[in-house]
Amino acid sequence: LEDLKKFMSDFNGCDLKKTATQLVFSDGNPKSNVMIIGEAPGAEEDRQGKPFCGASGKLLDKMLASINLDRNKVYITNVIPWRPPGNRTPTENEISLMKPFLLRHIELVEPKILVAVGGSASKAILNFEGGILRYRGIWKEISLSNSLVIPIIATLHPAYLLRAPNQKKLAWEDLKSIRSKLKELND
Ligand code: URA
Repeated sequence: LEDLKKFMSDFNGCDLKKTATQLVFSDGNPKSNVMIIGEAPGAEEDRQGKPFCGASGKLLDKMLASINLDRNKVYITNVIPWRPPGNRTPTENEISLMKPFLLRHIELVEPKILVAVGGSASKAILNFEGGILRYRGIWKEISLSNSLVIPIIATLHPAYLLRAPNQKKLAWEDLKSIRSKLKELND
């Protein structure tokens, strides 16, 4: 992981690096069963070099706590490791450029389950079409080049939930589904 981080911070093929303060690589426990994948760092993440440490990170922590998880029990990264200017959504080009790094990142962590947070991350990994409300909460699998097959679920982004709190009940369904899946895997 340290090698991957170094390799990514030395990579000059993505213009987002030029406007960002620093690479935002990951947070949490790399030995945990759950790997959470967000979209891209925002202003606070860009400052601190840590994913989900701003307002949406606080809500993410609460969501995790509701199913008895915290940053010692999950590992967190983003599809895009540099803050897009003005927090714009990453382009398809930027996503396909950075996706091989993300896939390598997943292979190195070897989580038991993946949680894609928000539409951008879900589409990047699962090639979904259409809005996230159509495919959140549904378990799929991804196959990695080292023959690992990992269950993955898409859920709503905490930044979206802050704007649309009445959708929290859907996120709660997803969280319960994650809790059951983890229980299944541990039994
Ligand atoms: N939103 C994301 O998708 N990732 C972060 O790290 C912060 C906000």
